[in-house]
Amino acid sequence: MKAATYERYGPPEVVEIRNVPTPTLGAGEVLIRIHASTVSTGDWRERSLAMPAGFGPFGRLVFGVTRPRQPILGSELAGVVEAVGAGVTSFRVGDDVFAFANAKMGSHAEFRVFPASGLIARKPGNLSHEQAAALSFGGMTMLGFFRRGSLAEGERVLVNGASGSVGSAAVQIARHLGAEVTAVCGPTNVELVRGLGAHRVIDYTREDFTTNGVQYDVIVDTVGNANYARVKGSLATRGRLLAVLGGFMDLVLAPAIRMRGEHRVIAGPSVVTVEDIRRLAELAAGGAFTPVIDQVYPLSQIVEAHRRVESGHKRGSVVVAIAA
Ligand SMILES: NC(=O)c1ccc[n+]([C@@H]2O[C@H](COP(=O)([O-])OP(=O)(O)OC[C@H]3O[C@@H](n4cnc5c(N)ncnc54)[C@H](OP(=O)(O)O)[C@@H]3O)[C@@H](O)[C@H]2O)c1
Repeated sequence: MKAATYERYGPPEVVEIRNVPTPTLGAGEVLIRIHASTVSTGDWRERSLAMPAGFGPFGRLVFGVTRPRQPILGSELAGVVEAVGAGVTSFRVGDDVFAFANAKMGSHAEFRVFPASGLIARKPGNLSHEQAAALSFGGMTMLGFFRRGSLAEGERVLVNGASGSVGSAAVQIARHLGAEVTAVCGPTNVELVRGLGAHRVIDYTREDFTTNGVQYDVIVDTVGNANYARVKGSLATRGRLLAVLGGFMDLVLAPAIRMRGEHRVIAGPSVVTVEDIRRLAELAAGGAFTPVIDQVYPLSQIVEAHRRVESGHKRGSVVVAIAA
């Protein structure tokens, strides 16, 4: 099968299309013919070792010391079940599905084997494969962070970086959960995030949300420029900072901040569950969450797709179309 592979860390050009063996199906697994995937900021970090502040030394330990352990990137996918392994009863050949491989990657390819009991669900009928491929990275991340941050109906939420893949999911899911949502984005994305359901939009080139005197119950930071020291004045009593793009220090200081009792900082990798992927499918089917798509690239243009992600200014997700 064709796959986008990389054998050394570096710029977008290290990624090449190669023929690699099609994975073999085992018991309890499904073989998926992939129609679409995405290049996410996770793929960019893993390919280039651009780690969040303070995590630099851990990159090679996690992804491979001398070279990447997993040569095929791609954390999310949508496609059709091509074959099912022994004992699989939850999926049948021909089912349209979407799945989240998360850190295991491996979706920038024509086929991927996936555990039937893993983070896989039927594709909502109202979404194309290209849209469904873009559900998980932002959606799963935010379902996990909002659960850990106990977001409740009626609370005031600020989403910093509302036009990205995670931010655009955060705005829509927070709105669906009954929050009052303020979105922070650049001038070209104001209309986009308003259309996603934000009650109020702050253009970060004109206003600093940390100095305008407004407080929030929950602040979601997907940009990495809103650490606790900077935003604590904008958090209401018992407010939570969801440091989706948190640095090492956010993780280290979180327990001490929690002990003081006034605020909480929730950082670290997203916590994902099988229930969340089913929930995501329901939210999408009901129209509560529709992934924003920046651009669709054919697999042959995967290098361009990586370049777009690396710009730091994509809107929603960069999709890779793999099979028709
Ligand atoms: N903790 C976890 O497990 C986890 C999970 C998923 C992702 N992440 C991290 O979360 C981060 C965001 O991911 P993503 O895929 O959503 O990134 P993305 O799609 O590249 O979005 C970043 C967005 O931030 C906006 N932005 C840039 N500067 C800003 C500023 N000063 N104020 C407000 N918005 C600003 C950009 O909009 P403009 O073009 O208008 O500047 C862009 O739309 C990544 O760094 C990723 O590594 C962490």
